[in-house]
Amino acid sequence: MNDGRRSLPIAVFDSGIGGLTVLHELLVSLPEEDYLYLGDTEGFPYGTKSAGWLRPRIELMVRFLLGRGAKLLVIACNSATAAGADVARAVAAERGVEVLTVVDPEAEIAAAITESGRIGVLATPTTVEGGAYRRALERRAGQGELEIVEVAAPDLAPIIQNGFPFDETVIDTVRSYCEPLRRARIDTLILGCTHYPLVAPMLQRMLGRDVRMVTAGHAVAATAQRELQGRGLEAENAGEGDYRFLCTADVASFRELGTRFLQMPLGEVERVEIDPGDRS
Ligand code: DGL
Repeated sequence: MNDGRRSLPIAVFDSGIGGLTVLHELLVSLPEEDYLYLGDTEGFPYGTKSAGWLRPRIELMVRFLLGRGAKLLVIACNSATAAGADVARAVAAERGVEVLTVVDPEAEIAAAITESGRIGVLATPTTVEGGAYRRALERRAGQGELEIVEVAAPDLAPIIQNGFPFDETVIDTVRSYCEPLRRARIDTLILGCTHYPLVAPMLQRMLGRDVRMVTAGHAVAATAQRELQGRGLEAENAGEGDYRFLCTADVASFRELGTRFLQMPLGEVERVEIDPGDRS
């Protein structure tokens, strides 16, 4: 299929800047593509909000983002995936755009690599309460095959998004989240929030070097590549594509923290006002 859509960007959506850890992998794996990233920094954090608040918000954001034109949508936010993947898919389907999310790819990897069958999931309350990881893991391994230990971390994404000064309080908070995971002697940990790769070294140190960490980036990038090839939507130009950013709150803090998350320079960042009445 090629109806002129090959030249459109891949849209990437997150509640803030955590999704930049996924965008980073996409930029490395599919450098020739263009990307348009939307961080709903005004709505952040998603991980402690109700489904009743999140679902219409996600609909609004996805409508806005796809309204700019995109050939594929990546929901690079576990909380948004858990609360509203179906909402995003319904909006995208109206435009014939495929949606990739972050929960399933990690569950697939974790179920494949665990040796003991004891898998930890560290995620936001929204994600844990929605049960998306448990369902995805059980679909792969069958009920009772895995021991799944889910830990809801209400403070961790906000700590990271706020620039995470590594003081003792932060370390104690992270340690308290690791405690049930250590007790359960997990051998695999799903980092069930796209902010968490930024604290992976701290988690690895607290849990021990034998625990394998699973993040979404690689798997999503591989799936995106398959999806584009399957639909004949790969970028026509060789070389490096461009990437642009939209956010719903302060541009300066997005740019400063975003550079750290992306580990690459950020180009243009545009602040967007999203009108709740806009259903275009
Ligand atoms: N990146 C989001 C997620 O993956 C951050 C959580 C939040 O917005 O609270 O869940």
